[in-house]
Amino acid sequence: MQSTVATFVVSLALALGTASAAVVFDRDCPTNIRAMQYFSVEQYLGKWYEVQRYESEFEENYDCVQVRYSLNEDDSVAVSNSAYNLFNGSSINALGRAVLSFPDEEIVLGKLNVSFFGAPNDRSNYWVLDTDYDKFSVVWSCEQIAPQQSEESFWVLSRTPNPITDIDVMYRVHRIMRRYIDRSQVRFTRQTDERCPVF
Ligand SMILES: *[C@@H]1O[C@H](CO)[C@@H](O)[C@H](O)[C@H]1NC(C)=O
Ligand SMILES: *[C@@H]1O[C@H](CO)[C@@H](O)[C@H](O)[C@H]1NC(C)=O
Repeated sequence: MQSTVATFVVSLALALGTASAAVVFDRDCPTNIRAMQYFSVEQYLGKWYEVQRYESEFEENYDCVQVRYSLNEDDSVAVSNSAYNLFNGSSINALGRAVLSFPDEEIVLGKLNVSFFGAPNDRSNYWVLDTDYDKFSVVWSCEQIAPQQSEESFWVLSRTPNPITDIDVMYRVHRIMRRYIDRSQVRFTRQTDERCPVF
């Protein structure tokens, strides 16, 4: 029984944790990718809709992905990720906590340590590469898992469930994707299906 519960929790964490929308590449983590400077946690709070991501077998078949960020009393960020499986109607929710990776740096970078289910915030695994806070965000991270092997995660988030049509936003998103993202591994998240719940 206990192991069933543990397995369930782990698969949830993988489904929606930040080590989730991940693709394994036979290369080291790139070192030329920069997180945003002068990042403001406060402006980043609120609800986001995932519109694109690296597909992973753990998150497979999940759509309608919504994430909500709010402030905890200790100034960390409460993370609530929800998703819905359009094939079998199951929803999942994962609660987590995020902190700025390096809050004391003179120029605060958009790097956060996100963890789920009470795990320690010991990995800088959520890098905001670009955001305007009120329309879109491009998030990426990489973890070295072996020599010449790394696992990258990638999400495009939007403040609305609709596909991004704003020309300026598209330009900023594509500028990053063209340089750093393997677009053959990117999946569009269905958000406008009428079965998507309001989480
Ligand atoms: C729906 O499918 C997912 C995987 O695709 C699975 O983890 C989940 O248990 C399924 N839920 C139901 C209710 O069948
Ligand atoms: C975040 O994780 C990194 C390791 O990737 C660590 O060096 C840093 O101290 C962590 N930040 C916080 C605030 O815990």
